[in-house]
Amino acid sequence: MSELRGACIIGQSGGPTAVINASALGVIRTALDTDCITRVLGAANGIQGVLEDRLYDMGQEDAGELELLRYTPSSALGSCRYKLAEPSQDDTDYRRILEIFRKYDVRYFFYNGGNDSMDTCNKISKYMQSVGYACRVIGVPKTIDNDLWGTDMTFGFQSAVDIATDTIDRIHTTASSHSRVFIIEVMGHKVGHVTLHAGIAGGADVILIPEIPYDINVVTDVIKKRSAAGKTFTILAVAEGAISKEDAKLKKKQYKAKLAQRKYPSIAYELAAEIEEKMDKEVRVTVPGHTQRGGSPCAYDRVFATRVGAKAAELILNEEYGYMVAMRNGETVKIPLEEVAGKLKYVDPQCGLIQEARMIGISFGDK
Ligand code: F6P
Repeated sequence: MSELRGACIIGQSGGPTAVINASALGVIRTALDTDCITRVLGAANGIQGVLEDRLYDMGQEDAGELELLRYTPSSALGSCRYKLAEPSQDDTDYRRILEIFRKYDVRYFFYNGGNDSMDTCNKISKYMQSVGYACRVIGVPKTIDNDLWGTDMTFGFQSAVDIATDTIDRIHTTASSHSRVFIIEVMGHKVGHVTLHAGIAGGADVILIPEIPYDINVVTDVIKKRSAAGKTFTILAVAEGAISKEDAKLKKKQYKAKLAQRKYPSIAYELAAEIEEKMDKEVRVTVPGHTQRGGSPCAYDRVFATRVGAKAAELILNEEYGYMVAMRNGETVKIPLEEVAGKLKYVDPQCGLIQEARMIGISFGDK
Protein backbone atom coordinates (compact mmCIF):
# COMPACT_ATOMS: atom_id res chain seq x y z
CA MET A 1 0.00 0.00 0.00
CA SER A 2 1.21 3.50 -0.86
CA GLU A 3 3.07 5.46 1.80
CA LEU A 4 1.83 8.65 0.23
CA ARG A 5 -1.29 9.76 2.06
CA GLY A 6 -3.48 12.60 0.90
CA ALA A 7 -6.55 13.69 -1.01
CA CYS A 8 -7.31 12.88 -4.62
CA ILE A 9 -8.94 14.96 -7.33
CA ILE A 10 -10.97 13.44 -10.14
CA GLY A 11 -11.72 15.57 -13.19
CA GLN A 12 -13.45 15.14 -16.53
CA SER A 13 -12.51 17.12 -19.59
CA GLY A 14 -13.08 17.53 -23.32
CA GLY A 15 -16.23 16.51 -25.18
CA PRO A 16 -18.24 14.20 -22.92
CA THR A 17 -19.32 10.76 -24.06
CA ALA A 18 -22.35 8.67 -23.18
CA VAL A 19 -20.19 6.63 -20.83
CA ILE A 20 -17.69 8.98 -19.20
CA ASN A 21 -19.33 8.73 -15.75
CA ALA A 22 -19.16 4.93 -15.55
CA SER A 23 -15.36 5.02 -15.47
CA ALA A 24 -15.35 7.99 -13.07
CA LEU A 25 -17.51 5.92 -10.72
CA GLY A 26 -14.95 3.07 -10.79
CA VAL A 27 -12.20 5.47 -9.81
CA ILE A 28 -14.29 7.30 -7.17
CA ARG A 29 -15.37 4.10 -5.45
CA THR A 30 -11.89 2.63 -5.36
CA ALA A 31 -10.44 5.94 -4.16
CA LEU A 32 -13.05 6.15 -1.37
CA ASP A 33 -12.04 2.65 -0.25
CA THR A 34 -8.29 3.19 -0.48
CA ASP A 35 -6.57 3.86 2.87
CA CYS A 36 -3.90 6.20 1.53
CA ILE A 37 -6.57 8.43 -0.07
CA THR A 38 -7.93 10.58 2.72
CA ARG A 39 -10.53 12.52 0.74
CA VAL A 40 -12.01 12.28 -2.77
CA LEU A 41 -12.66 15.57 -4.51
CA GLY A 42 -14.43 16.04 -7.83
CA ALA A 43 -13.28 19.02 -9.91
CA ALA A 44 -16.13 21.06 -11.36
CA ASN A 45 -15.39 21.46 -15.09
CA GLY A 46 -12.06 19.69 -15.05
CA ILE A 47 -8.85 21.60 -14.59
CA GLN A 48 -10.79 24.86 -14.68
CA GLY A 49 -12.48 23.84 -11.43
CA VAL A 50 -9.06 23.19 -9.91
CA LEU A 51 -7.80 26.61 -10.99
CA GLU A 52 -10.95 28.26 -9.64
CA ASP A 53 -11.08 26.15 -6.46
CA ARG A 54 -14.45 24.64 -7.34
CA LEU A 55 -14.26 21.15 -5.87
CA TYR A 56 -16.96 18.76 -4.66
CA ASP A 57 -16.37 16.44 -1.74
CA MET A 58 -17.39 13.08 -3.23
CA GLY A 59 -17.28 11.38 0.17
CA GLN A 60 -20.26 13.51 1.19
CA GLU A 61 -22.36 12.36 -1.77
CA ASP A 62 -25.14 9.85 -1.19
CA ALA A 63 -23.82 6.35 -2.09
CA GLY A 64 -27.02 5.49 -3.98
CA GLU A 65 -26.76 8.63 -6.06
CA LEU A 66 -23.12 7.95 -6.84
CA GLU A 67 -24.14 4.50 -8.11
CA LEU A 68 -26.44 6.19 -10.65
CA LEU A 69 -23.32 7.52 -12.36
CA ARG A 70 -22.93 4.12 -14.03
CA TYR A 71 -25.94 4.89 -16.24
CA THR A 72 -25.69 8.67 -16.41
CA PRO A 73 -24.50 10.02 -19.75
CA SER A 74 -22.46 13.22 -20.18
CA SER A 75 -19.98 14.43 -17.59
CA ALA A 76 -21.59 14.64 -14.18
CA LEU A 77 -18.78 16.81 -12.82
CA GLY A 78 -18.87 19.13 -15.83
CA SER A 79 -16.21 19.39 -18.49
CA CYS A 80 -13.89 21.99 -19.99
CA ARG A 81 -11.66 22.54 -22.97
CA TYR A 82 -8.70 24.21 -21.38
CA LYS A 83 -5.17 23.81 -22.67
CA LEU A 84 -2.33 24.44 -20.26
CA ALA A 85 0.57 26.48 -21.61
CA GLU A 86 4.08 25.06 -21.71
CA PRO A 87 5.35 25.69 -18.17
CA SER A 88 8.62 27.08 -19.59
CA GLN A 89 6.59 29.82 -21.33
CA ASP A 90 3.99 30.56 -18.67
CA ASP A 91 3.79 28.77 -15.34
CA THR A 92 0.93 30.82 -13.86
CA ASP A 93 -1.61 27.98 -14.06
CA TYR A 94 0.85 25.44 -12.66
CA ARG A 95 1.63 27.62 -9.65
CA ARG A 96 -2.10 27.96 -9.01
CA ILE A 97 -2.66 24.20 -9.36
CA LEU A 98 0.18 23.59 -6.89
CA GLU A 99 -1.39 26.10 -4.49
CA ILE A 100 -4.72 24.24 -4.65
CA PHE A 101 -3.03 20.85 -4.34
CA ARG A 102 -1.22 22.09 -1.23
CA LYS A 103 -4.40 23.63 0.19
CA TYR A 104 -6.24 20.28 0.08
CA ASP A 105 -3.13 18.10 0.41
CA VAL A 106 -3.88 16.56 -2.98
CA ARG A 107 -1.53 13.68 -3.75
CA TYR A 108 -3.52 11.88 -6.43
CA PHE A 109 -4.91 13.31 -9.66
CA PHE A 110 -7.11 11.34 -12.10
CA TYR A 111 -8.08 12.97 -15.35
CA ASN A 112 -10.63 11.56 -17.71
CA GLY A 113 -10.48 12.83 -21.29
CA GLY A 114 -9.02 12.77 -24.78
CA ASN A 115 -5.82 14.07 -26.32
CA ASP A 116 -5.66 17.46 -24.64
CA SER A 117 -6.50 15.88 -21.29
CA MET A 118 -3.60 13.40 -21.54
CA ASP A 119 -1.39 16.37 -22.40
CA THR A 120 -2.69 18.13 -19.25
CA CYS A 121 -1.93 15.01 -17.16
CA ASN A 122 1.58 14.76 -18.54
CA LYS A 123 2.32 18.45 -17.96
CA ILE A 124 0.99 18.41 -14.38
CA SER A 125 2.86 15.19 -13.60
CA LYS A 126 6.14 16.66 -14.86
CA TYR A 127 5.62 20.03 -13.18
CA MET A 128 4.91 18.45 -9.79
CA GLN A 129 8.07 16.36 -10.15
CA SER A 130 10.09 19.43 -11.12
CA VAL A 131 9.04 21.31 -7.96
CA GLY A 132 9.44 18.25 -5.74
CA TYR A 133 5.76 17.94 -4.83
CA ALA A 134 4.81 14.27 -4.58
CA CYS A 135 1.65 13.76 -6.61
CA ARG A 136 0.54 10.68 -8.58
CA VAL A 137 -1.20 11.32 -11.90
CA ILE A 138 -3.25 8.84 -13.95
CA GLY A 139 -5.01 9.48 -17.28
CA VAL A 140 -8.24 7.69 -18.15
CA PRO A 141 -8.97 7.79 -21.90
CA LYS A 142 -12.36 8.77 -23.26
CA THR A 143 -13.40 10.40 -26.47
CA ILE A 144 -15.96 9.52 -29.08
CA ASP A 145 -13.35 10.33 -31.74
CA ASN A 146 -11.21 7.24 -30.93
CA ASP A 147 -8.18 9.31 -31.89
CA LEU A 148 -6.10 8.74 -28.79
CA TRP A 149 -2.72 7.28 -29.60
CA GLY A 150 -1.64 4.18 -27.68
CA THR A 151 -5.06 2.58 -27.16
CA ASP A 152 -6.90 0.39 -29.66
CA MET A 153 -10.13 2.07 -28.67
CA THR A 154 -11.46 4.84 -26.45
CA PHE A 155 -14.68 4.46 -24.55
CA GLY A 156 -17.55 6.51 -25.89
CA PHE A 157 -16.56 5.60 -29.44
CA GLN A 158 -18.85 2.59 -29.84
CA SER A 159 -21.84 4.47 -28.43
CA ALA A 160 -21.21 7.32 -30.87
CA VAL A 161 -20.90 4.84 -33.76
CA ASP A 162 -24.27 3.32 -32.75
CA ILE A 163 -25.95 6.73 -32.72
CA ALA A 164 -24.47 7.80 -36.07
CA THR A 165 -25.41 4.40 -37.54
CA ASP A 166 -28.97 4.79 -36.29
CA THR A 167 -29.13 8.19 -38.02
CA ILE A 168 -27.92 6.68 -41.31
CA ASP A 169 -30.42 3.80 -40.91
CA ARG A 170 -33.26 6.25 -40.47
CA ILE A 171 -32.17 8.22 -43.50
CA HIS A 172 -32.06 4.98 -45.49
CA THR A 173 -35.69 4.23 -44.82
CA THR A 174 -36.84 7.68 -45.91
CA ALA A 175 -34.31 7.98 -48.76
CA SER A 176 -35.92 5.20 -50.76
CA SER A 177 -39.00 7.40 -51.19
CA HIS A 178 -37.05 10.17 -52.93
CA SER A 179 -34.67 10.67 -55.78
CA ARG A 180 -32.19 12.61 -53.72
CA VAL A 181 -28.68 12.65 -52.35
CA PHE A 182 -28.46 12.50 -48.56
CA ILE A 183 -25.42 13.67 -46.61
CA ILE A 184 -24.99 12.70 -42.97
CA GLU A 185 -22.22 14.63 -41.24
CA VAL A 186 -20.54 12.66 -38.47
CA MET A 187 -18.38 13.97 -35.62
CA GLY A 188 -14.74 13.00 -35.16
CA HIS A 189 -12.75 16.22 -35.17
CA LYS A 190 -9.66 15.64 -37.35
CA VAL A 191 -10.10 11.89 -37.79
CA GLY A 192 -12.60 9.58 -39.48
CA HIS A 193 -13.00 6.59 -37.14
CA VAL A 194 -16.66 7.24 -36.21
CA THR A 195 -17.65 8.03 -39.82
CA LEU A 196 -15.87 4.98 -41.21
CA HIS A 197 -17.53 2.56 -38.81
CA ALA A 198 -20.99 4.16 -38.88
CA GLY A 199 -20.80 4.56 -42.67
CA ILE A 200 -20.11 0.87 -43.17
CA ALA A 201 -22.64 -0.23 -40.53
CA GLY A 202 -25.33 2.06 -41.95
CA GLY A 203 -24.68 1.08 -45.56
CA ALA A 204 -23.49 4.47 -46.85
CA ASP A 205 -22.59 4.49 -50.54
CA VAL A 206 -19.84 7.06 -50.12
CA ILE A 207 -17.70 7.64 -47.03
CA LEU A 208 -15.54 10.75 -46.84
CA ILE A 209 -12.93 10.97 -44.08
CA PRO A 210 -10.05 13.40 -43.47
CA GLU A 211 -7.44 10.66 -43.95
CA ILE A 212 -8.57 10.09 -47.58
CA PRO A 213 -9.02 13.45 -49.34
CA TYR A 214 -11.85 13.36 -51.88
CA ASP A 215 -12.35 14.60 -55.41
CA ILE A 216 -15.81 16.11 -55.92
CA ASN A 217 -15.91 14.73 -59.49
CA VAL A 218 -15.38 11.20 -58.18
CA VAL A 219 -18.26 11.75 -55.74
CA THR A 220 -20.63 13.03 -58.44
CA ASP A 221 -19.60 10.13 -60.73
CA VAL A 222 -20.67 7.65 -58.04
CA ILE A 223 -24.06 9.38 -57.81
CA LYS A 224 -24.44 9.35 -61.63
CA LYS A 225 -23.51 5.67 -61.86
CA ARG A 226 -25.99 4.78 -59.16
CA SER A 227 -28.73 6.71 -60.97
CA ALA A 228 -27.85 4.99 -64.25
CA ALA A 229 -28.15 1.63 -62.47
CA GLY A 230 -31.66 2.57 -61.33
CA LYS A 231 -30.72 3.44 -57.75
CA THR A 232 -32.63 6.59 -57.05
CA PHE A 233 -30.85 7.79 -53.95
CA THR A 234 -27.28 7.99 -52.70
CA ILE A 235 -26.14 8.26 -49.10
CA LEU A 236 -22.90 9.97 -48.12
CA ALA A 237 -21.43 9.61 -44.63
CA VAL A 238 -19.12 12.59 -44.28
CA ALA A 239 -16.73 13.23 -41.41
CA GLU A 240 -16.86 16.77 -40.08
CA GLY A 241 -13.14 17.01 -40.89
CA ALA A 242 -13.40 15.62 -44.45
CA ILE A 243 -11.21 17.51 -46.90
CA SER A 244 -10.93 17.75 -50.69
CA LYS A 245 -7.75 16.75 -52.53
CA GLU A 246 -7.30 20.37 -53.51
CA ASP A 247 -7.56 21.65 -49.92
CA ALA A 248 -5.32 18.87 -48.61
CA LYS A 249 -2.48 20.40 -50.66
CA LEU A 250 -2.77 23.73 -48.80
CA LYS A 251 -0.48 24.61 -45.93
CA LYS A 252 -2.15 24.35 -42.49
CA LYS A 253 -2.37 28.13 -42.15
CA GLN A 254 -3.81 28.60 -45.64
CA TYR A 255 -6.43 25.91 -44.98
CA LYS A 256 -7.39 27.48 -41.65
CA ALA A 257 -7.80 30.85 -43.36
CA LYS A 258 -9.94 29.22 -46.06
CA LEU A 259 -12.14 27.58 -43.42
CA ALA A 260 -12.59 30.92 -41.70
CA GLN A 261 -14.00 32.27 -45.01
CA ARG A 262 -16.29 29.26 -45.59
CA LYS A 263 -19.77 30.52 -46.37
CA TYR A 264 -21.43 27.31 -45.22
CA PRO A 265 -21.85 26.14 -41.61
CA SER A 266 -19.84 22.96 -42.25
CA ILE A 267 -18.38 20.60 -44.84
CA ALA A 268 -21.69 18.76 -45.40
CA TYR A 269 -23.44 21.94 -46.52
CA GLU A 270 -20.52 22.94 -48.71
CA LEU A 271 -20.57 19.54 -50.40
CA ALA A 272 -24.34 19.71 -50.81
CA ALA A 273 -24.02 23.04 -52.62
CA GLU A 274 -21.24 21.70 -54.85
CA ILE A 275 -23.21 18.58 -55.78
CA GLU A 276 -26.35 20.58 -56.53
CA GLU A 277 -24.34 22.93 -58.70
CA LYS A 278 -22.73 20.09 -60.64
CA MET A 279 -25.75 17.91 -61.19
CA ASP A 280 -29.50 18.02 -61.36
CA LYS A 281 -30.09 16.44 -57.95
CA GLU A 282 -31.67 17.57 -54.75
CA VAL A 283 -29.37 17.18 -51.76
CA ARG A 284 -30.40 17.01 -48.10
CA VAL A 285 -28.09 17.33 -45.10
CA THR A 286 -28.50 15.73 -41.66
CA VAL A 287 -26.12 16.58 -38.83
CA PRO A 288 -26.66 14.43 -35.71
CA GLY A 289 -24.03 16.62 -34.00
CA HIS A 290 -23.92 16.47 -30.22
CA THR A 291 -26.53 13.71 -30.05
CA GLN A 292 -23.53 11.46 -30.77
CA ARG A 293 -22.18 12.20 -27.31
CA GLY A 294 -25.40 11.81 -25.36
CA GLY A 295 -28.03 9.27 -24.41
CA SER A 296 -27.54 5.86 -22.95
CA PRO A 297 -24.13 4.21 -23.44
CA CYS A 298 -24.07 0.97 -25.42
CA ALA A 299 -23.33 -2.29 -23.58
CA TYR A 300 -19.83 -2.52 -25.07
CA ASP A 301 -18.88 0.92 -23.75
CA ARG A 302 -20.30 0.16 -20.30
CA VAL A 303 -18.11 -2.92 -20.04
CA PHE A 304 -15.13 -1.08 -21.53
CA ALA A 305 -15.45 1.92 -19.16
CA THR A 306 -15.81 -0.40 -16.18
CA ARG A 307 -12.61 -2.24 -17.16
CA VAL A 308 -10.67 0.98 -17.70
CA GLY A 309 -11.93 2.45 -14.41
CA ALA A 310 -10.96 -0.74 -12.57
CA LYS A 311 -7.50 -0.79 -14.19
CA ALA A 312 -6.96 2.83 -13.13
CA ALA A 313 -7.90 1.77 -9.61
CA GLU A 314 -5.46 -1.15 -9.80
CA LEU A 315 -2.68 1.25 -10.76
CA ILE A 316 -3.41 3.26 -7.60
CA LEU A 317 -3.22 0.15 -5.47
CA ASN A 318 0.04 -0.91 -7.15
CA GLU A 319 1.47 2.59 -6.81
CA GLU A 320 2.01 2.96 -10.55
CA TYR A 321 1.59 6.53 -11.73
CA GLY A 322 2.31 8.72 -14.74
CA TYR A 323 0.33 6.37 -16.98
CA MET A 324 -2.75 6.35 -19.16
CA VAL A 325 -4.84 3.22 -19.03
CA ALA A 326 -5.20 1.76 -22.53
CA MET A 327 -6.86 -1.16 -24.26
CA ARG A 328 -4.57 -3.30 -26.41
CA ASN A 329 -5.64 -6.56 -28.06
CA GLY A 330 -8.60 -6.84 -25.74
CA GLU A 331 -6.59 -6.31 -22.54
CA THR A 332 -6.22 -3.23 -20.33
CA VAL A 333 -2.62 -2.05 -20.12
CA LYS A 334 -0.75 1.05 -18.93
CA ILE A 335 1.10 3.40 -21.28
CA PRO A 336 3.43 6.18 -20.08
CA LEU A 337 1.64 9.54 -20.37
CA GLU A 338 4.53 11.10 -22.23
CA GLU A 339 4.24 8.49 -24.98
CA VAL A 340 0.60 9.43 -25.52
CA ALA A 341 0.45 13.18 -24.97
CA GLY A 342 -0.08 15.24 -28.09
CA LYS A 343 -0.28 12.29 -30.53
CA LEU A 344 -3.30 11.58 -32.73
CA LYS A 345 -4.38 8.16 -33.93
CA TYR A 346 -5.62 8.49 -37.51
CA VAL A 347 -7.45 5.97 -39.68
CA ASP A 348 -4.85 4.13 -41.76
CA PRO A 349 -6.05 4.53 -45.38
CA GLN A 350 -4.46 1.15 -46.18
CA CYS A 351 -6.08 -0.73 -43.29
CA GLY A 352 -8.08 -3.89 -43.82
CA LEU A 353 -11.40 -2.22 -43.04
CA ILE A 354 -10.96 0.34 -45.82
CA GLN A 355 -9.86 -2.35 -48.30
CA GLU A 356 -12.86 -4.50 -47.40
CA ALA A 357 -15.23 -1.54 -47.66
CA ARG A 358 -13.87 -0.79 -51.12
CA MET A 359 -14.37 -4.43 -52.11
CA ILE A 360 -18.08 -4.24 -51.32
CA GLY A 361 -18.42 -1.13 -53.48
CA ILE A 362 -18.19 1.72 -50.98
CA SER A 363 -16.48 4.75 -52.49
CA PHE A 364 -14.12 6.94 -50.48
CA GLY A 365 -14.39 9.67 -53.10
CA ASP A 366 -10.75 9.41 -54.05
CA LYS A 367 -10.69 7.17 -57.16
O1 F6P B 1 -13.76 15.58 -29.29
C1 F6P B 1 -15.07 15.18 -29.30
C2 F6P B 1 -15.88 16.05 -30.21
O2 F6P B 1 -17.19 15.64 -30.08
C3 F6P B 1 -15.46 16.09 -31.66
O3 F6P B 1 -15.93 14.97 -32.38
C4 F6P B 1 -16.05 17.39 -32.11
O4 F6P B 1 -15.33 17.95 -33.17
C5 F6P B 1 -15.91 18.25 -30.90
O5 F6P B 1 -15.84 17.39 -29.78
C6 F6P B 1 -17.05 19.22 -30.71
O6 F6P B 1 -16.74 20.05 -29.66
P1 F6P B 1 -17.74 21.01 -28.89
O7 F6P B 1 -18.48 20.18 -27.90
O8 F6P B 1 -16.83 21.97 -28.24
O9 F6P B 1 -18.68 21.57 -29.92
